[in-house]
Amino acid sequence: MTQDELKALVGKAAVEYVEEGSIVGVGTGSTVNYFIDELATIKHKIQGAVSSSEASTERLKSHGIEVFELNDVDRIPVYVDGADESNHLLQLVKGGGGALTREKIIAAVADKFICIADESKLVPRLGEFPIPIEVIPMARSYVAREVVKLGGDPVYRTGFTTDNGNVILDVHGFEINEPIKLERLLNNIVGVVTNGLFAERAADVLLLGKQDSVETLTR
Ligand code: A5P
Repeated sequence: MTQDELKALVGKAAVEYVEEGSIVGVGTGSTVNYFIDELATIKHKIQGAVSSSEASTERLKSHGIEVFELNDVDRIPVYVDGADESNHLLQLVKGGGGALTREKIIAAVADKFICIADESKLVPRLGEFPIPIEVIPMARSYVAREVVKLGGDPVYRTGFTTDNGNVILDVHGFEINEPIKLERLLNNIVGVVTNGLFAERAADVLLLGKQDSVETLTR
């Protein structure tokens, strides 16, 4: 199977976790796009969705799925999203698409976070994929200098603005032995909106697309 076929497989598998009559949390990215397309087949069974990006909102709406403002929603039983990396504790690196802040907010609200990914995303240690950090534009250089002090090598994602009007630094070179500690250190730098380590709020379930099956990993 190709990588796209594996993504489609897990996108389909995630629909099984959706509660009837609920509002579904929807992430961002190429894997989630398959989930959205599959969600459309059961749209009459759900109330609608809360979306983590303009791109996902557009896709949800194109299928006729109602998109709610998070502030108007009390409860999100299930949030489905992809990842750039996962370790075996289901701690993730996310934000390759730049939607990390809204993704982290919805993950925090959700009762259950279902991560969907092809098998290439499961790694023994996080950090091969650079850690994205969303930064208030005027703090970019300051944050970059502070990141260097922590041992990282920040690269400004040129020509990219987040849905929140901010910029992204992609940080290479971190040796991540304690993901929760690093997540907190990065969030503590003034000017950082959030970072792409999802370790404090890891996924609850990882649906991993493999050549012959979907493997389900839980915490
Ligand atoms: C979006 O900002 C990211 O967090 C995505 O969830 C992540 O990059 C995975 O994307 P793909 O499913 O396209 O690999």
